[in-house]
Amino acid sequence: MADLSVNVAGISAPNPFWLASGPLTNTAYQVMKAFDEGWGGAVWKTVGEPVINVSSRLASIDYGNRRMMGLNNVELISDRPIEDNLREIAEVKRRFPEHAVVVSLMLPSIPEMWKDMMHRVEDTGADGVELNFGCPHGMNERGMGSVIGQVPEYTEQITAYAKADSRLPVIVKLTPNVTDIRNPGRAAVQGGADALSLINTINSVMGVDLDTWLPRPQIDGRGSHGGYCGPAVKPIGLYMVSALANDRKVKVPLVGIGGIESWQDAVEYLLLGAQAVQVCTAAMHYGFRIIRSMTEGLNDYLNAKGVARVEDIVGRSANKVGDWNDLRLSYSYKVVAKIHEDKCIGCNLCYVACDDGGHQCIDKGPEMKSPVVREEDCVGCNLCALVCPVPGCIEMQEHDLGIVETWRQRQDRLTSLS
Ligand SMILES: Cc1cc2nc3c(=O)[nH]c(=O)nc-3n(C[C@H](O)[C@H](O)[C@H](O)COP(=O)(O)O)c2cc1C
Ligand code: SF4
Ligand code: SF4
Repeated sequence: MADLSVNVAGISAPNPFWLASGPLTNTAYQVMKAFDEGWGGAVWKTVGEPVINVSSRLASIDYGNRRMMGLNNVELISDRPIEDNLREIAEVKRRFPEHAVVVSLMLPSIPEMWKDMMHRVEDTGADGVELNFGCPHGMNERGMGSVIGQVPEYTEQITAYAKADSRLPVIVKLTPNVTDIRNPGRAAVQGGADALSLINTINSVMGVDLDTWLPRPQIDGRGSHGGYCGPAVKPIGLYMVSALANDRKVKVPLVGIGGIESWQDAVEYLLLGAQAVQVCTAAMHYGFRIIRSMTEGLNDYLNAKGVARVEDIVGRSANKVGDWNDLRLSYSYKVVAKIHEDKCIGCNLCYVACDDGGHQCIDKGPEMKSPVVREEDCVGCNLCALVCPVPGCIEMQEHDLGIVETWRQRQDRLTSLS
């Protein structure tokens, strides 16, 4: 059995799988049920002055046979009284002392309010707080959420309010609705953040009903932009985690969030630099029970790799993601498509894609059993392999022309010649 336990800035948990702040972590009933099922931690649904939610509040995108490929919500923070939330948090922590219980907070920018709330959270025995600087709708209109996360100065300042006079570890949850995630990340660290979590949801309009012309979700004839999450957002979360993992100015632990629904998704986040992960949409979709295959899968994977502790894989792929300038140039190293005739079903999707959206280097003819790639013209863009419906039918083969040079090295060489 591999050691799955984690410690994120002093917050320890039996495994790296935590529930993200949201509808799943709204009550003690839910969080205790989740811990009984095997989740390692939970970030409580954001606590603050209670709000009034709208109905309906969720919309989703299906893709092919897949339901809820992307989910969008206009739900606000907790609509329950602060006292009820804090009482239940204390109850959960008493029953589950080994599990990570983190309290998500959102308050106006008033230092005294932060001081008071941090002390009240400390009294519950919770392991830490997470500052929700990411909610893109509803709370923005009240001066909280991603309007804070989008302005590095505010991010730094309010993190400092939470850190002042408190011994609890503070995780700052970042919004992806920025041009460069490193700016709010650095600001949070500057303000004293002990860890960063990302991503919160992405601004989106989910769709419009073609019959009624109403946006989705529709609330009494109107809609609003809302937060996007679920499997569709994973690449964005992965990128942002890797960007912070590679930033020398951000030397705090990271918690990865966004589109995680399997142990494989989680491993990708861990490899790119996250020390733990949080899950929302997948557990809303399939229930708390998905944790069993997640922990089992992670354990088997670590055993197969001969890795004793989950923390040993953290960040192992991060330094493989870098500037384009450091990639090997294609004139010296080339990938070329090769069609395996024995697998080809002759659908010609690759021919059409390459002719219209590629580089016109696939030939077909009535007498040919399968299309053929003219290797000398193939630029190795991958498009034909991506559209081919038969697994393994188009292989991208590496052709090494013997010269190893990146754009950066090329520029340096040309400069030295001049
Ligand atoms: C309905 C709903 C409500 C959410 N409420 C909160 C919240 O109160 N606080 C918060 O920090 N994030 C909230 N989130 C964002 C999630 O915690 C998470 O960052 C996001 O959904 C991405 O993860 P996922 O792709 O696993 O869903 C909410 C998400 C959804 C879908
Ligand atoms: S999931 Fe539950 S709360 Fe939501 S609409 Fe269906 S029945 Fe209602
Ligand atoms: S897309 Fe694949 S299966 Fe279809 S013709 Fe091309 S190689 Fe053959």
